[in-house]
Amino acid sequence: DWTMAAFREEAIARIREQVGDGRVICGLSGGVDSTVTAVLLAEAIGDRLTCIFVDHGLLRENEAEQVETMFAGRNDVIFNKVDASETFLNALEGVTDPEVKRKTIGRLFVEVFEKEAKAVKGDFLAQGTLYPDVIESVSPTGGPSVTIKSHHNVGGLPERMGLKLVEPLRLLFKDEVRALGRELGLAETFVGRHPFPGPGLAIRCPGAITRDGLAVLRRADAIFIEEIRAAGLYDRIWQAFAVLLPVETVGVMGDARTYEKVLGLRAVTSTDGMTADIYPFDVTFLGRVASRIVNEVRGVNRVVYDVTSKPPGTIEWE
Ligand code: XMP
Repeated sequence: DWTMAAFREEAIARIREQVGDGRVICGLSGGVDSTVTAVLLAEAIGDRLTCIFVDHGLLRENEAEQVETMFAGRNDVIFNKVDASETFLNALEGVTDPEVKRKTIGRLFVEVFEKEAKAVKGDFLAQGTLYPDVIESVSPTGGPSVTIKSHHNVGGLPERMGLKLVEPLRLLFKDEVRALGRELGLAETFVGRHPFPGPGLAIRCPGAITRDGLAVLRRADAIFIEEIRAAGLYDRIWQAFAVLLPVETVGVMGDARTYEKVLGLRAVTSTDGMTADIYPFDVTFLGRVASRIVNEVRGVNRVVYDVTSKPPGTIEWE
């Protein structure tokens, strides 16, 4: 794509100009935005970039491995992974309020990142801020959009650490970030991924988060996505995911009754996440997904499909 090739060159030149011979620290969350930011910086300044990937233990199946693989082949970048899942899961024990979950995760992310970053001599902090984030954070009405991104915004951190900000994606929309990612050679299966919230699976387990619950959710979510890909529907959907409900219902397996969790499936179309329509799967497809999940995932005996548009519903359940 001509435009993106030009943007890439321009962005690299701008980074070099801003950073000079300084060093940059980039926090990776596992998402497309932070990964594209990191790869762009790597092209611009090579080994003067240190990436810190904080694994909060709330990512989807194989997601942490995918991010690592993305950087494993590059010996021009310093890549540090911190497995902080125990810290996060311990702090989240018994937490049921969605906003407390978000705040806890946001606070720990900054703490873990700051501790790691202190050991690195950096001059700049890189962030994958997009244009809509810039608009949202100056929204005069405040409201939920500001809190939505609160965990991303390492508020006060750059100043506290004496770092200047580098935000090379600041003028881009999500689809442009994806195009840039392709231009930088990132795999389509990674670049084209559905958006995933920073607090991760924590806000897809209404009620208290448990390690067992997370394992169940991960597997069920992976089956749903696998079936969506197999049906060739992935790119038509804005976001699709599973939610593990803290509710048990009766089922029957062979000649025994079961009493297990309900799993919610959500899939929506949208252009920006602000409004959304449900994806109209045919019932045969949904039935196939439900029977695979109930048969393959222990701990779930009922699957429901969320048919609420946004508004009045939100995309996430918490
Ligand atoms: P809702 O649920 O508000 O979601 O309709 C709109 C979009 O925002 C994502 N989302 C979040 N993203 N941190 C994030 O980074 C959050 O706390 C958060 N909450 C919701 C959601 O996945 C959807 O794309």
